[in-house]
Amino acid sequence: MAAVRLGFVGVGYITVNSHLPALQPLVESGEVVLQAFCDVDEEAVAQQAAAFKVGATYTDHRAMYEAEDLDAVYICLPPTAHTDQVPAAAERGLHLFVEKPQTLDMAQAVEHAAAIEKAGIVSQIGFQSRYYPASEFVRQRLAELTPRHASVQLFYGGKPVRWWTSRYEECGGSFVENTIHMVDLLRYFLGDIERVSAFYNWRRPGEGPEPMNMPHVYGVNYGFASGAVANATTSRVLTNVSAGRREVLVVCDDALIEWSAQKVVENGETVWEAGEDNSAPGRQARAFVDAVKAADPSLPRSPYGASNNSLAAVLGANISAESAGQMLELADVVGGKVRWKGDVVYAPEIQG
Ligand SMILES: NC(=O)c1ccc[n+]([C@@H]2O[C@H](COP(=O)([O-])OP(=O)(O)OC[C@H]3O[C@@H](n4cnc5c(N)ncnc54)[C@H](O)[C@@H]3O)[C@@H](O)[C@H]2O)c1
Repeated sequence: MAAVRLGFVGVGYITVNSHLPALQPLVESGEVVLQAFCDVDEEAVAQQAAAFKVGATYTDHRAMYEAEDLDAVYICLPPTAHTDQVPAAAERGLHLFVEKPQTLDMAQAVEHAAAIEKAGIVSQIGFQSRYYPASEFVRQRLAELTPRHASVQLFYGGKPVRWWTSRYEECGGSFVENTIHMVDLLRYFLGDIERVSAFYNWRRPGEGPEPMNMPHVYGVNYGFASGAVANATTSRVLTNVSAGRREVLVVCDDALIEWSAQKVVENGETVWEAGEDNSAPGRQARAFVDAVKAADPSLPRSPYGASNNSLAAVLGANISAESAGQMLELADVVGGKVRWKGDVVYAPEIQG
């Protein structure tokens, strides 16, 4: 097949620092052409087009879709900026790579999944953790075991970097914006999630650092369709120190599995270690381009529609925490019976 012609909508942090470097070997081998960039920020799009030798730039995605002969589009926008970028591409038969979280509006995610399904195109959500070789190893090992329970601990650190990733109403909080990766990884290991109950330690008005207004701590419990359960504890309070933690454990009958991108430990013994080629973004890019070449929607590990279970799981955590831990069925989150609106930032009555 001729080179896969790619367009990008949004050329900010993730496009420039992850996707374009990951695609570079495929550009060099002639399998991929970076054909057009679109960003509402005229200066940014001109600068990145010059840096990555892209001839065509746009500030409107519809104009790019109309003028360019593209095979696939990467959509890398802040989650509240999604309008018709996805369905307009799907209608034209353009294959889609969409960064997580798909959007913060579950109804919109359901509509977009339907447009993709109808078009029969390839889609991939940017859940790169599924592409670590360690993740493949654990998934295969778990198929031989009886998993009962998973535990995730993520203690994020550092000063706020961007406005929208510091604001609960703009990014959904750290659990939606960041922990969604590990929630999706648990789904890769254990299958779909059915229900959620969550308690947060909310940030009181005026508690720094500015401009952050997101909860301090997220304590989330999940029930899986398989009967397995999981709990995820995430915090965002280690602002001025270099300490942090990322731990993913899966407890099975007679097997305690510890996952990390670098190694897998079973019952205290290292059973797998990363080699030189351990780049999840690189493998994810390769897989997406291969799926586009084959025009086969079944190839990506996180197609849009199936990934809505991960989105519902994190938005459902927010809704539950805002309702004092009320248990929710994810089917009700996907079906619109309950909805996350981003309008509760601190509520003394649910602080506990
Ligand atoms: N997979 C990962 O590990 C990972 C890491 C970081 C970010 N992300 C996700 O990637 C997405 C983008 O994040 P980012 O860090 O690159 O954000 P960013 O703010 O750095 O970049 C977003 C870009 O989109 C542009 N933009 C906004 N509205 C637009 C529109 N309507 N049309 C065209 N361009 C528009 C902005 O001008 C900006 O250049 C988010 O969903 C984020 O959660 C994923």
